[in-house]
Amino acid sequence: MAAHHINLLFICLYFSLSFIFTKQVQADNYIIHMDHSAMPKAFAGRQSWYLATLSSLSANLRANTNSTIPTAELLYSYNHVIQGFSASLTLAQLEALKNSRGYVSSIRDKTVKLDTTYSFKFLGLSSDAGLWPASGFGKDVIIGLIDTGVWPESESFNDDGMNDVPFRWKGKCESGTQFNSSVCNKKLIGARSFNKGLIANNPSITISMNSPRDTAGHGTHTSSTAAGTYVGDASYFGYAQGNARGMAPGARVAMYKALWDEGSYTTDVIAAIDQAINDGVDVLSLSFGLDELELYEDPIAIATFAAIEKNIFVSTSAGNEGPDLETLHNGTPWVLTVAAGTMDRSFGASLSLGTDGYVRGAALYPGNFSSIQYPIVFMDKCDETKELKKLVGMIIVCQDPGKEDSLNDQFSSIQVAGNVAGVFITNSTLLDIFTQSPLPAIFLEQKGGDIVVDYIKTNKNPKASIEFKTTFLGSKPSPTVTSYTSRGPSYSAPSVLKPDIMAPGDSILAAWPLNIGVARLNDDMLFSSFNLLSGTSMACPHVAGIAALLKGAHPDWSPTAIRSALMTTSDPIDNAGNPIEDIGTNLQPATPLAMGAGHINPNKALDPGIVYDATVQDYIDFLCGLNFTPQQIKTITGSSSNKCSNPSLDLNYPSFIAYFNDRNVKPDSNTVKEFQRTVTNVGEGSFIYKASLTAMKGVKVSVEPDTLVFKEINEKRSFKLSIEGPRQLDKTVSFGYLIWEDSQRKHVVRSPIVATSYKIDK
Ligand SMILES: *[C@@H]1O[C@H](CO)[C@@H](O)[C@H](O)[C@H]1NC(C)=O
Ligand SMILES: *[C@@H]1O[C@H](CO)[C@@H](O)[C@H](O)[C@H]1NC(C)=O
Ligand SMILES: *[C@@H]1O[C@H](CO)[C@@H](O)[C@H](O)[C@H]1NC(C)=O
Ligand SMILES: *[C@@H]1O[C@H](CO)[C@@H](O)[C@H](O)[C@H]1NC(C)=O
Repeated sequence: MAAHHINLLFICLYFSLSFIFTKQVQADNYIIHMDHSAMPKAFAGRQSWYLATLSSLSANLRANTNSTIPTAELLYSYNHVIQGFSASLTLAQLEALKNSRGYVSSIRDKTVKLDTTYSFKFLGLSSDAGLWPASGFGKDVIIGLIDTGVWPESESFNDDGMNDVPFRWKGKCESGTQFNSSVCNKKLIGARSFNKGLIANNPSITISMNSPRDTAGHGTHTSSTAAGTYVGDASYFGYAQGNARGMAPGARVAMYKALWDEGSYTTDVIAAIDQAINDGVDVLSLSFGLDELELYEDPIAIATFAAIEKNIFVSTSAGNEGPDLETLHNGTPWVLTVAAGTMDRSFGASLSLGTDGYVRGAALYPGNFSSIQYPIVFMDKCDETKELKKLVGMIIVCQDPGKEDSLNDQFSSIQVAGNVAGVFITNSTLLDIFTQSPLPAIFLEQKGGDIVVDYIKTNKNPKASIEFKTTFLGSKPSPTVTSYTSRGPSYSAPSVLKPDIMAPGDSILAAWPLNIGVARLNDDMLFSSFNLLSGTSMACPHVAGIAALLKGAHPDWSPTAIRSALMTTSDPIDNAGNPIEDIGTNLQPATPLAMGAGHINPNKALDPGIVYDATVQDYIDFLCGLNFTPQQIKTITGSSSNKCSNPSLDLNYPSFIAYFNDRNVKPDSNTVKEFQRTVTNVGEGSFIYKASLTAMKGVKVSVEPDTLVFKEINEKRSFKLSIEGPRQLDKTVSFGYLIWEDSQRKHVVRSPIVATSYKIDK
């Protein structure tokens, strides 16, 4: 049974409920960028300047119109993420604001879309050697998550054996509805919530849980994935049983709740990031994003620029809109963008055929199924409900004809008829909808199905029993790229190859609030302290946790250096020894536009040899290369003194993407795309690196020089990579790798290269 056929897509947590409230005067939330150097000296501080600016707007408007215009409401004044504030404004107020002193630009508030017992083992993390002991399990590194809140009672946030909270920590545990600040401890060191934007957008709203407490489950799951402590005997009703642990079990968790059941807004999200920067987090995990925005319009891109300036590593999710190209969000050059892959674990059941052996299939039935033998019958299409009803005490076998909705129809027929269990022979890849259902059901591939049908046809009195709650390990191939993970290129920064890396995101077991149902059985809700979820939302905190470990092991590395170490040491090969495959393209080899550099390999990232680092100035030069206006650049950097010292789209990135898509020109005239890179030796001692390139269809790649000699640590060396190709490439995506390997064979530093005829659709 192939592991990749079970995608438990519990992923679709969309936190953009469409509440419609009518308001007296139509006001909307805006994020307002201001130039601090324009603040009159008379003001004691920025907040009083903003308040005075806002009240002057209404006064001016009142004078002109005689109607009752309320003073515009200040939501947040931001300290780090931008120079400016957010406010609820009428259109007239916004227009008036544009003429105020210090106004730079504004962005209308948007809603935000949210996109283990085992994954640590799958990633090779071990207490004996490698990144866990080297980092003290992430001891004293602080991971901030912007999410739906936290269920602090979960065993994953137990602080047994942890030392005191780092002295530098400035965060808080805020009390609120069903949340006493005493629930925080040495593991969960901070919990705050942000909803002024939500309330301003929906004035008559009642917030059901006005505190950092998680009512969605998502934040509890992601935070325990990143840094959950050891919990023995965790499982989802017996599936995935084992000892649960986050990626950085020694790290601290700070939860910033900005995503609410009632809605999620960027004004709240960036207020949360602003506070996290102020509190002193080392790593941020953001499992959500905004689609199709320029960098200067994307509040998450803008806020995370401030985080990078403060040396905070930012992990983000690529999104769950695959498998089409150009579906990803967070394609921002200064953050890490994570794709979701599968593991070698799947869940299912064994169907024993009398005394004739057994077959295995996919299943996730959460109930306690009797172990007795039942009569088993083959009903082929299973479309005769009347007939099925006569077979109540029996296990029914159905052959899915593979038409649209056919499996769905068969499934409901068995449910309605009330048979003991259903066995479905199918090759549908959308089993997640069914495996979560209250009906005891097994899904077999054709081969297993044929064995069952043959047994039934050749026996006078065929009987079978089912054993659910089985976990299969070692499935091949794995990892694979999930179908849903969003693909590059990046809309906002096409010249940077995105996503960056793939991490486990499929069927991830992590902590869950005990009062939120995870499955249904008959008419009863079932509850569990662990739940299985899938999505890039689950992949993102894996990398946040691993980045925390790297930060613990290498406190002097910049976020960009950590990203480089993760990317260049990732694996392009699966456990069957082949290039990692992509479920979204019928198991073709996955391209870097689907999985980035490859599958994350934490222990190797500890010692990457050389890194591709970049400074804040390099990112500013990149923005200049995008031809942004000084005002647009100011919006992102929050500084009025941005120098375009060397405008360039060629960022010092550990990956390469070149476009050959000039449709108006004959394809036979060649063009050359060049990339300049500088690498830093982070290995102890002297090394000689030699370049090798894998062949790429349709283009010719070269590197100059092809040898780099480092005499000591922190030395830098530069090289040029050239891709020669036609004006227009035949293939949509052609890819290969540049590999630097040192003569002692200690380090293999691999970068993906993409040549594409794809044209960004703007
Ligand atoms: C001012 O108020 C009067 C009386 O309520 C109204 O007739 C008039 O249209 C208002 N003027 C403006 C500019 O709104
Ligand atoms: C919060 O917890 C502390 C310690 O358990 C307790 O003394 C206090 O009464 C609690 N406060 C509220 C508001 O429940
Ligand atoms: C299944 O059996 C276990 C162990 O006896 C029990 O704890 C659990 O509640 C049962 N599950 C259901 C859904 O009845
Ligand atoms: C399974 O897929 C193959 C190839 O796509 C198709 O020919 C076949 O009919 C399918 N079988 C079922 C049972 O859906």
